[in-house]
Amino acid sequence: MFCSIEVGDMTKLSPSLFLLLLLCTPFFLSTSSLSTATDTLTQDSPLSDGDTVVSANGTFALGFFAPNPNSNNRYVGIWYNKVSVLTYVWVANRNDPLVDLTGTLSLTANGTLVITANDSTVVVWSSSGSSTVGNPVAQILDNGNFVVKDVKDDSLQFFAWQSFDHPTDTLLPGMKLGWNLTSGLNRNLTAWTSSTDPSSSPYTMAIDILGDPQVILWSGSTRTWRGGPWNGARFSGIPEMKTYSMFILQFVQNQDEVYYTFGLEDPSIISRVIVNQTGSSQRMVWLDQSNQWNVFWYAPKDQCDDISPCGPMGVCNPNDSPICDCVQGFEPKHPTNWALRDGTGGCIRKTPLDCRNGTDGFVLVSEAKLPDTSSSTVDMSLSLEQCKDKCLGNCSCTGYANAYVNGTGCIIWTTQLTDLRVWAFGGQDLYVRVATADLSSTTEQSHHSGTVATIIAIPVALGTVLLLSVACFVRKMRRKKRVEFTPASFTNPHNYQDSDSKDLDLPLFDLTTIVAATDNFSAKSKLGEGGFGPVFMGTLEDGQQIAVKRLAKTSVQGRTEFRNEMELIAKLQHKNLVRLLGCCIHGEEKMLIYEYMPNKSLDVFLFDRTKCTLLDWKTRYEIIMGIARGLLYLHQDSRFKIIHRDLKASNVLLDKEMNPKISDFGMARMFGEDETQANTRKVVGTYGYMSPEYAMDGVFSVKSDVFSFGVLVLEIVSGKKNRGVFFAKDDLNLLGHAWSLWKHGTSLELVDESISPKYSADEALRCIKVGLLCVQERPEDRPTMSSVMLMLGSGSALLPQPKQPGFISTKGPFEYSSSTSKQASYSLNEISLTMCEGR
Ligand SMILES: *[C@@H]1O[C@H](CO)[C@@H](O)[C@H](O)[C@H]1NC(C)=O
Ligand SMILES: *[C@@H]1O[C@H](CO)[C@@H](O)[C@H](O)[C@H]1NC(C)=O
Ligand SMILES: *[C@@H]1O[C@H](CO)[C@@H](O)[C@H](O)[C@H]1NC(C)=O
Ligand SMILES: *[C@@H]1O[C@H](CO)[C@@H](O)[C@H](O)[C@H]1NC(C)=O
Ligand SMILES: *[C@@H]1O[C@H](CO)[C@@H](O)[C@H](O)[C@H]1NC(C)=O
Ligand SMILES: *[C@@H]1O[C@H](CO)[C@@H](O)[C@H](O)[C@H]1NC(C)=O
Ligand SMILES: *[C@@H]1O[C@H](CO)[C@@H](O)[C@H](O)[C@H]1NC(C)=O
Ligand SMILES: *[C@@H]1O[C@H](CO)[C@@H](O)[C@H](O)[C@H]1NC(C)=O
Ligand SMILES: *[C@@H]1O[C@H](CO)[C@@H](O)[C@H](O)[C@H]1NC(C)=O
Repeated sequence: MFCSIEVGDMTKLSPSLFLLLLLCTPFFLSTSSLSTATDTLTQDSPLSDGDTVVSANGTFALGFFAPNPNSNNRYVGIWYNKVSVLTYVWVANRNDPLVDLTGTLSLTANGTLVITANDSTVVVWSSSGSSTVGNPVAQILDNGNFVVKDVKDDSLQFFAWQSFDHPTDTLLPGMKLGWNLTSGLNRNLTAWTSSTDPSSSPYTMAIDILGDPQVILWSGSTRTWRGGPWNGARFSGIPEMKTYSMFILQFVQNQDEVYYTFGLEDPSIISRVIVNQTGSSQRMVWLDQSNQWNVFWYAPKDQCDDISPCGPMGVCNPNDSPICDCVQGFEPKHPTNWALRDGTGGCIRKTPLDCRNGTDGFVLVSEAKLPDTSSSTVDMSLSLEQCKDKCLGNCSCTGYANAYVNGTGCIIWTTQLTDLRVWAFGGQDLYVRVATADLSSTTEQSHHSGTVATIIAIPVALGTVLLLSVACFVRKMRRKKRVEFTPASFTNPHNYQDSDSKDLDLPLFDLTTIVAATDNFSAKSKLGEGGFGPVFMGTLEDGQQIAVKRLAKTSVQGRTEFRNEMELIAKLQHKNLVRLLGCCIHGEEKMLIYEYMPNKSLDVFLFDRTKCTLLDWKTRYEIIMGIARGLLYLHQDSRFKIIHRDLKASNVLLDKEMNPKISDFGMARMFGEDETQANTRKVVGTYGYMSPEYAMDGVFSVKSDVFSFGVLVLEIVSGKKNRGVFFAKDDLNLLGHAWSLWKHGTSLELVDESISPKYSADEALRCIKVGLLCVQERPEDRPTMSSVMLMLGSGSALLPQPKQPGFISTKGPFEYSSSTSKQASYSLNEISLTMCEGR
């Protein structure tokens, strides 16, 4: 029995998906070559094996599917209709597959959905818990909910039955994870057994309503991860939620219901939360450009995410070694086990509480994930002060905290505090009750305020140091400039040609060829100003597009660079370095011929608020990796050790496929094997990208390039210039801003809002961390490019902690020389120091 076919609706099923479905479910061909595409099912039109129904706007489809090509098992399920990777979000009969060749999904007169095998003789599955409606019809809605409702009821308020009440392993936007306390309905997510078997595995994510409700991952009856209670803004165990700018997160708790749900600010974004077959929970976001699901978040992550690895009254900190510590005023219960790194025994009080004398105090644990709340009590009407009094007034109280991070509500514990951990950011203050005797000593409180003081003190001190160095530096610079522009050894162009271009293995282009290619250097073909003169675009007779860099006749300085670039780049070959095709030297006329880069330079995209949207995360990440590879080649993989000295966004060109290519070697220096750093009278480079030791003292090494690379990485991640953009109140430049976010554990706020949230949080964090490591003040702290490559390829948790970057304030040396006006510093931003004209 087939459904009626409405031809007009066939377009809703995209051809590629249809093909995919055909491949996955061979039954399509045997039973029906055409499928209906209405979104409803009535008593008279059941759904046969091979048919699908598609939601009104085509987002979701429902039908029969066979996930395992080696088995006859078939299921009724819902999948994304427009996502090119077949992804099931719901399965009706996950534990009761159809095993023979025919099957039907139909709606009975009283509104029950049934899946029958062998022509209605055997019922393998039926919808449970439905209420009755007069004239039932089943419909797949645009949010992915499959509902049974009265045919005349269009309010979409009352459903006799809905698939959202019986989730499989996926939480979609608008779906509730949690309880209807009246009916006892518990909506939870249970993983598939394997990617080809949707039957229930032991892994479940559910809301546990004991005590203060918490989100918990289970393996059978064992708790494997505690997402913790809702703290008004997020789950206490998911601090990352703080950075979820594009999601609308909601936790509802009242007499009737306790549930979590999420929505999306931008409905075109496709995101889901799942429990996977290995027992982790993941939030996935669909990336349209790269056609793949991106893991946006997952848990558990580290050792401290296990259930109570440090036992009662222990604190787990994954960044410490060992990870377990006791709350102040407590000591390990089993010191031997503790020494063997088994913290599960937990800690005991050094001094017993003295409840009746009312003299107990509290120690503060900052940035805490609230301990297990399954036996704690919450009173939303109390302030923190009242909460403290309530705890002091109950002899079994062991600790308290604000229930909500915004400072409202009171939660108290009257049992041992278990599964306590601290975060680098996004945790909250927890007060643990201890005897007065254990309060003093090195209190947690003073320790923490100490850290805060240091954070403030460093930038202030650094600012002063910078201020002081400014005056003498500016003076030094002025003196240097005068030296710079005295004509050096290349006053005679013929000399130069003879002595310098002879043994270079470069193809020579004819001047007439270049004149023809560039339409006689017409204004139309001019691409811009390069390091030592104008750059033109040209087309050779054979159609090859070229870029021609022409040495300005007036530029004395340019000759050095011209020769330098010609010598250096002729020796280099790497896919992330721009390729020199040849040169053209004709008397006074000197030109370098390069491959043409149709997408111009990185800054054109990165700092343009409309074009930057073309740089999705994947592209940005590839660009970072490409620049890193190119720089690594320069520093150590080529036969020469070359320091670029002027790495910046405008010197990274992009080819057709957006592959980055480092260009402009006019200022590069070649080093001998054993030379590691050099001193120069002449500081060249670009403000904003120069390392402190280079800008201040003229000392340069591969680590100065690493610094510039770090700046570039942070610019690519944030889409903002280091110079010319000012952050907030503090006069911070991008480095200072990134550092400040890092210190506060909110690094992801740095990510360009134009790509949020379609990026991998993990990769972004890794890039930010690597960027910060590269811009550290002291060159010896900065990694080499080979370490950078390694770091970019590993987990961010394994990377060392960055120290304070150099030049974090916009009050760098140069703004002072230009009257500190923002406009002035902006225009300076793009100028390479040795140039008289801007590039
Ligand atoms: C609906 O009818 C089916 C049989 O057709 C029966 O098994 C089921 O209990 C009925 N459900 C309700 C809610 O009446
Ligand atoms: C349906 O029929 C087939 C063959 O007629 C048989 O092998 C199969 O066991 C039947 N299925 C059920 C659920 O009875
Ligand atoms: C379809 O409807 C859903 C729910 O209203 C909405 O989120 C989604 O953006 C819509 N999709 C399209 C392609 O219109
Ligand atoms: C909870 O279940 C009861 C009983 O089935 C029902 O009347 C009520 O509407 C449900 N509440 C919600 C919010 O769905
Ligand atoms: C998940 O929900 C099912 C059905 O409501 C229930 O039987 C099961 O106990 C729940 N599991 C957990 C861990 O809450
Ligand atoms: C704290 O957050 C809750 C829930 O978001 C809100 O109802 C309450 O008014 C907030 N209180 C303050 C002081 O902001
Ligand atoms: C489950 O998620 C974790 C965390 O993202 C991941 O490491 C693991 O590979 C996933 N398992 C499967 C089967 O996809
Ligand atoms: C508590 O108070 C009682 C009576 O005031 C006193 O005897 C006892 O020593 C006090 N305990 C402590 C630990 O101070
Ligand atoms: C202390 O708190 C617990 C948990 O809220 C409660 O059961 C007990 O009655 C309280 N005891 C006193 C003396 O208030």
